[in-house]
Amino acid sequence: MLQLAEEKQCLSCHARDDETPRAPGFNSIAAKYAGGEMRGYLVEVVMTGGEDHWGSATMPESGERAEVSEEEAEQLVDWILSKHQE
Ligand code: HEC
Repeated sequence: MLQLAEEKQCLSCHARDDETPRAPGFNSIAAKYAGGEMRGYLVEVVMTGGEDHWGSATMPESGERAEVSEEEAEQLVDWILSKHQE
């Protein structure tokens, strides 16, 4: 799964453990959305991008970064959310 995140260049903005100037860390995201009710919303964000939830930085829409299919987005979100239990 980590490989998919690397392939899609998620990690160039998101670090695993730390906040970066560019984006919130995946562990922080996992903690914020612990429980999984927001899974569908997060899958949407991974596919289409988002902004205004963490600060001034924007997660670009696909097209400005590697394209992610719905299936890949679901895998990535499950991987991110699972980090909270680790
Ligand atoms: C160009 C930098 C960049 C890349 C590449 C990027 N992100 Fe993001 N991402 C961000 C920023 C900035 C935010 C915070 C947006 C906000 O404030 O809502 C974010 C937010 C998120 C969130 C939380 C959304 C929310 O509403 O809280 C998730 C989940 C996420 N990214 C997953 C991914 C995944 C998976 C990938 C790889 C497919 C990826 N990101 C690639 C910059 C990036």
